[in-house]
Amino acid sequence: MKFIITGSLGNISRPLVALLVKAGHDVTVISRSAGKTVEIEEAGAKAAIGSLEDVSFLTNTFTGADAVYTMVPPNYGAANMPDFIEATGKGYATGIKAAGVKKIVNLSSIGADVPAGTGPIAGLHRVENILNQLEGVDVKHVRAGFFYVNFFNDIPLVKHNNVIGANYPATTEMIMVHPADIADAIAEELLGSFSGKSVRYAISEEKLISDIVPLIAAATGKPGLPWVEFTDDQSLEGMKGAGIPAPTAATYVEMGQALRDGVLNKYYRANNFKPTGKRKFADFVKNEFTAAWNS
Ligand SMILES: NC(=O)c1ccc[n+]([C@@H]2O[C@H](COP(=O)([O-])OP(=O)(O)OC[C@H]3O[C@@H](n4cnc5c(N)ncnc54)[C@H](OP(=O)(O)O)[C@@H]3O)[C@@H](O)[C@H]2O)c1
Repeated sequence: MKFIITGSLGNISRPLVALLVKAGHDVTVISRSAGKTVEIEEAGAKAAIGSLEDVSFLTNTFTGADAVYTMVPPNYGAANMPDFIEATGKGYATGIKAAGVKKIVNLSSIGADVPAGTGPIAGLHRVENILNQLEGVDVKHVRAGFFYVNFFNDIPLVKHNNVIGANYPATTEMIMVHPADIADAIAEELLGSFSGKSVRYAISEEKLISDIVPLIAAATGKPGLPWVEFTDDQSLEGMKGAGIPAPTAATYVEMGQALRDGVLNKYYRANNFKPTGKRKFADFVKNEFTAAWNS
């Protein structure tokens, strides 16, 4: 089968491409950078070089595909992140329609059931709705939890300030996922069959922040590393100080509020979904987090 994979060789797309190539399929990977062509070909796929914001490029690339994996990459420079995400979703819908693709597996997020007040995830809510309007196209939304790899972003704070924290408390429940477990779920959907519009979750493990911090403390050689619950203002200023543009920082503060208030995880909890991924957070910290810390 012929698959188009967006997201270059990013966190999810790299293991996803490996799974599809190993299963003997014809895989094309979209990247903005011609410099990635060799790496993509070494992974056993073809490269399509262009931007997800270019609808005619999307249409040409999607034409003849049996299925497309769609994801919206982060754009920290966007003036309004949910609007940017929505615009990418509209571009996808136009390209999918014009190319006549009939099967889509779309990366979404826990909390995408909520229309607003969830930071960037509100944009993914809109993308789900846009793709759900495509007539005659089967769409599976894979709602991923909080990526394990997000904890790489905390390394500078831990290294330089000897604390870890965010604008939510240590009692917060983190419903998390290893990107390779998301890739497993997406490959299963691309290779399997489904019809109509539906949602599945990709979750590896559920842990409290208070369970996570001691693992990171051990990996960093900082016993007693404290979790600090920052105010929303402190979070905003901290992110701006780290070079994140103010509108994007404000969007991430809002996502932290939604986590703090239980809004993000509410639907998952209420419907009794369970983790299905196999990769444990403790192993991620021992291996990948420690390697990133030492690099
Ligand atoms: N972080 C979380 O906790 C979380 C939770 C739920 C859902 N999500 C979703 O997951 C996404 C990230 O997925 P990921 O980690 O697999 O991605 P990633 O590792 O950030 O990789 C995305 C790749 O997309 C390519 N790209 C960026 N802009 C592009 C453009 N305009 N046109 C074409 N390609 C472009 C880039 O590669 P090139 O430089 O090669 O073009 C980039 O490396 C988020 O954006 C969000 O939608 C995240």
